[in-house]
Amino acid sequence: MPETSPSRGNPLAPSWLLVPRDANELPESVWSQNSSRSDDGQVTIAGVTTSELVERFGTPLYVVDEADVRNRARSIRASFEREFSAVGSHARVYYAGKAFLSTEVARWVTQEGLNIDVCSGGELAVALAAGVDGARLGFHGNNKSLSEIDRAVGAGVGAIVIDSVVEIGRVAEAATRHGRTQPVRLRINSGVHASTHEYLATAREDQKFGIPLADAVAVAALIRAETSLDFLGLHSHIGSQIFESDGFAEAARRLFEVHAELLASGPVPELNLGGGFGIAYTSVDTALPVEEIARRFAAIVSERAGELGIPVPVIAIEPGRSVVGPSTTTLYAVGTVKDVLVEGSAVRKYVSVDGGMSDNIRPALYAANYSVRIAGRSSDAQPALVRIAGKHCESGDIIVHADYLPADVAPGDIVAVPATGAYGWAMASNYNYVARPPVVAVLDGTARVIVRGETEQDLLSRDAGVNA
Ligand code: LLP
Repeated sequence: MPETSPSRGNPLAPSWLLVPRDANELPESVWSQNSSRSDDGQVTIAGVTTSELVERFGTPLYVVDEADVRNRARSIRASFEREFSAVGSHARVYYAGKAFLSTEVARWVTQEGLNIDVCSGGELAVALAAGVDGARLGFHGNNKSLSEIDRAVGAGVGAIVIDSVVEIGRVAEAATRHGRTQPVRLRINSGVHASTHEYLATAREDQKFGIPLADAVAVAALIRAETSLDFLGLHSHIGSQIFESDGFAEAARRLFEVHAELLASGPVPELNLGGGFGIAYTSVDTALPVEEIARRFAAIVSERAGELGIPVPVIAIEPGRSVVGPSTTTLYAVGTVKDVLVEGSAVRKYVSVDGGMSDNIRPALYAANYSVRIAGRSSDAQPALVRIAGKHCESGDIIVHADYLPADVAPGDIVAVPATGAYGWAMASNYNYVARPPVVAVLDGTARVIVRGETEQDLLSRDAGVNA
């Protein structure tokens, strides 16, 4: 955590936000592993300076630190493998592609030994276009279309997660048509209340995913009765951006009872506990190191297996955010700066940038917090409370609700928002006909486009009335 001097705080600042002693600092917990300031004060990522990035690719720009993604993927896999082999089992790690999928990212994570979890025909198409072997893919979703199921089975997907009773027949038929025995998991709503934003919690009772735990044994029997299906085990995902391991422990405890019951009537090769590990978005967030998460998971699982007198199952997990979230920094150009007098006494500096809710919807949708730094230079000016706003026609179009930047932040400055790798580009839109920015990967001093940015021509080309 950076050094702070809370005394200079602006009364409009949220209570968690402390004034940094140095508003140029890049807290390690939030910035991608290869981010630093070069001698001239610029933010440099994997050896590529802000000025080079902006000159070559413009703004807004997503900058992915490739080695950061690869290192996180590798260390999640290594940690889970180590901890689960220590308790006599194995772990399978799937990267949840929904966080950010492109063919390059699919190649990076599979080269680092991860499998990929997809949840739509589109994500499946990207993974296959990357050359990923179907056997390394998992496919889930609460409302897969018949054609998506058909494509997944046809592609030899390693596991399909059955989300409702009606899907059993749909997947079984597709498997028969393709002459395959399709491995499947069964999505359970464990009823665990994960401590996260309401929209990010997926296992409360009142939601659309999975089947109730109480029905699991009966539904698993229906799956086992289908000769074209191969039952792998239960699947649960309690939510996203979760910091405590209690929710996972509780979900594992609940699922285990049923897992043990199912073992009495046939093989149950694995247990899938989903993803959801939280990351740091601001310097006050402390994410558990992956080694610690893996250690806790292995302890919970082996303890429960011991209590129930069953072997430690093979565990599958599906992290998305914790693989790609910290890797990416979004660069924006500042267009206008306004000192807005609030309640007659305090000033909030509104710094408006050339992107906004179309490239990062998370602050508007989940009240997510981010942090910001001036990237093009460092500055000795006193820190001032800022709000980074976008260019869209909505007052909720905010990228960073509150942070401190050097008070001399001015039009023309390039600012950087770290930790935008997960659900940033993935949830981007064309609101207000704003074209989606490119994604550039940086590695060892070189930068290359991995997803090109859209042009206005791209947007117009979809309008059937243009030049009609
Ligand atoms: N597995 C399943 C079945 C999921 O539904 C999800 C996320 C994951 C794995 C990956 O979770 P992660 O490790 O990335 O937290 N758009 C929201 C997040 C929605 C997550 C949906 N499911 C956000 O921006 O925070």
